[in-house]
Amino acid sequence: MPDLLVPLYKLPQEPGTGVENGVTVRRALAPEMHAICAFAQKHFNKGWASECSVAMAGRPPGVYLAVEGKTLLGFACYDATARGFFGPTGVSKAARGKGLGRRLLLATLHAMREAGYGYAVIGGAGPVDFYRRHCPAIEIPDSEPGIYEGMLR
Ligand SMILES: CC(C)(COP(=O)(O)OP(=O)(O)OC[C@H]1O[C@@H](n2cnc3c(N)ncnc32)[C@H](O)[C@@H]1OP(=O)(O)O)[C@@H](O)C(=O)NCCC(=O)NCCS
Repeated sequence: MPDLLVPLYKLPQEPGTGVENGVTVRRALAPEMHAICAFAQKHFNKGWASECSVAMAGRPPGVYLAVEGKTLLGFACYDATARGFFGPTGVSKAARGKGLGRRLLLATLHAMREAGYGYAVIGGAGPVDFYRRHCPAIEIPDSEPGIYEGMLR
């Protein structure tokens, strides 16, 4: 899985945040960290839960959420494993295919732009086509395994 580079000055205008079809996309609050980490571990893996906890330690937290009522449907992080990195991101299986992944991606990338970054790196991008479709992402040559080399699981 290669890393991707995203020029943040070329992002689509759509902010990603706000309420659409009853689902709110917004920045996470510190007291929600336990719920976010539990969600990441339940639906994905412990490594992603660890990354969520690191991103949540930012001020403001570097995590965006998709929430319907009191149910967490997905998340996206930045500045977790490295500064300037986007990810991880995930949407629970039942909530996929409804545009939440796109909204979380755009909300987080816009926040990175606001935080002063010119580019974002999508670290170890799994669904490369998903990213290419929704933001101006280009593959970084020779970026695998990149910063994750030798990682313990
Ligand atoms: C990737 C992920 C976050 C996308 O979330 P989602 O809410 O389903 O995404 P969206 O509904 O916004 O998808 C929008 C479009 O991208 C497409 N898409 C979604 N996942 C895709 C994938 N893995 N590969 C290619 N295209 C994909 C959808 O088909 C959809 O197309 P459409 O607009 O023509 O219907 C979600 O599939 C997920 O949690 N996957 C597992 C975790 C993961 O791989 N995370 C990324 C780690 S780097």
